[in-house]
Amino acid sequence: MNFVKPLFCFFLIFSSFRVLAQSTLTIRDTSGPAISRNIYGHFSEDLGRCIYDGFWTGDHIRMDVVEALRKIRVPVLRWPGGCFADQYHWRDAIGPRQQRKVTVNTTWGMVSDDNSFGTHEFLQLCELLGCQPYIAGNVGTGTPEEMENWLEYLNFGGKSTLADLRRQNGHDLPWNVSFWGVGNESWGCGGSMSPDFYAGQYNRYSEFCKNYPGSPLKLIASGANGDDYDWTETVMKNIDKGRTWGLSMHYYTIAGSWQHKGAATAFGEDDYFKALSACLRMDEIVRKHSAIMDKYDPRKRVALVVDEWGIWTDAEPGTNPAFLYQQNSLRDALIAATTLNIFNNHADRIRMANLAQTVNVLQALVLTNKDKMLLTPTYYTFDLYKVFQDARSLAIQVQSPDYTYGSGKIPAVNVSAARDSSGTVHVALVNLDPLKAIKVRTGMGSIPFRTVQGQVLTSAKFNDYNSFEQPDRVKPVAFSGAKKEGSDLVVDLPPSSVVVLDLKN
Ligand code: AHR
Repeated sequence: MNFVKPLFCFFLIFSSFRVLAQSTLTIRDTSGPAISRNIYGHFSEDLGRCIYDGFWTGDHIRMDVVEALRKIRVPVLRWPGGCFADQYHWRDAIGPRQQRKVTVNTTWGMVSDDNSFGTHEFLQLCELLGCQPYIAGNVGTGTPEEMENWLEYLNFGGKSTLADLRRQNGHDLPWNVSFWGVGNESWGCGGSMSPDFYAGQYNRYSEFCKNYPGSPLKLIASGANGDDYDWTETVMKNIDKGRTWGLSMHYYTIAGSWQHKGAATAFGEDDYFKALSACLRMDEIVRKHSAIMDKYDPRKRVALVVDEWGIWTDAEPGTNPAFLYQQNSLRDALIAATTLNIFNNHADRIRMANLAQTVNVLQALVLTNKDKMLLTPTYYTFDLYKVFQDARSLAIQVQSPDYTYGSGKIPAVNVSAARDSSGTVHVALVNLDPLKAIKVRTGMGSIPFRTVQGQVLTSAKFNDYNSFEQPDRVKPVAFSGAKKEGSDLVVDLPPSSVVVLDLKN
């Protein structure tokens, strides 16, 4: 009778303590490359309800959306596309709004576009967000002259007919736009070009992208579709690298096929596992493109710019499929965190990335419904990760248990770490396993720390999401599962979770 009670207590402690797997991590005190803040960039296309209805109401910018995005310190915003960029003619969308051309968005649903949101409105949005604009110029249906004129309109501070037209339209000073894309997906919707042909076009168009006084351009060449390494090889070989700041690359995470991508929230572990496996491919794809770039640019002067990424699911039932409106679950927050860890760990080559697409389209941060707005789980990943902007990356080594599903397996844990300018060390850890908590024992090498605190983003189910009825279902809370043991950091990661820790000395 005497030993029944202790046995029962032991059982209680054991069953409530769900740590079932162990992982080891080493963080070394090496001063790695700075993680450019622009890795935390976003992409907003004139597509569906991203601009119209998302950012723009018809005559003003939505300040609730702006305020939410200011909180996560959006550093750079790419616009007007995407595929739309290569059908966009900037003159259609300047001047008095009632006199602007009404065009058809032939790429995204054949809907009329009143062009009430154009160059001035986009640049005002960037000013309100406090971010850099990144404009994708039209190579597919534009001309070098049109591109040259747009740049003069934007960036020339002296006297010219186009600079005066800008002044007449309400903007006296040049905007000094610097990030400039020369086309988008030129292998597909941007003109179905071969890499050879595109390289020639890039050299031709970029010749007319002038650096107006005080406005040096950072030109970004249109890059590969996922693992199309031949594109990177040919383009890197043939473009004028002297006038190239970056080469782009697009990779979307898809659980199913292009025809049936999978549901955004009504999915089970099968799609969960497939999506996470697809997301982890980003690491291999980045490594292989970087290795090709190293051949032609060993000093890493040209940045790899992942200017479209994120999970792409089937559109929400009952919405226009061409508008790419999808909900966003905890799974997508894990995908964002895992991808940002990959980018942080490749900060030597990746110097910009842009999640597709900010509001109401694909892996959005914000969803709107008339005058209501909600923040998605992905928004909260970016909120947690904002501490990595411009921090110096630290070298890490992870030994992770596998997350197995059926006959497949992927590493359950992924991590990145960096030190910011105040000396605080930030560690981001993701546990992809939906069933197992994982104890991560971290050797901190010669990195001293006295305190550790952080936040965790998780939920009861991996497909939990924030709805207009329940907008706060998935959001970060204070994390109590990290402690210092000797000189080690020990972290108990809950299943399907993102944890970001601050270590101070
Ligand atoms: O983000 C949606 C589309 O995906 C973009 O317009 C295009 O660049 C890509 O194929």
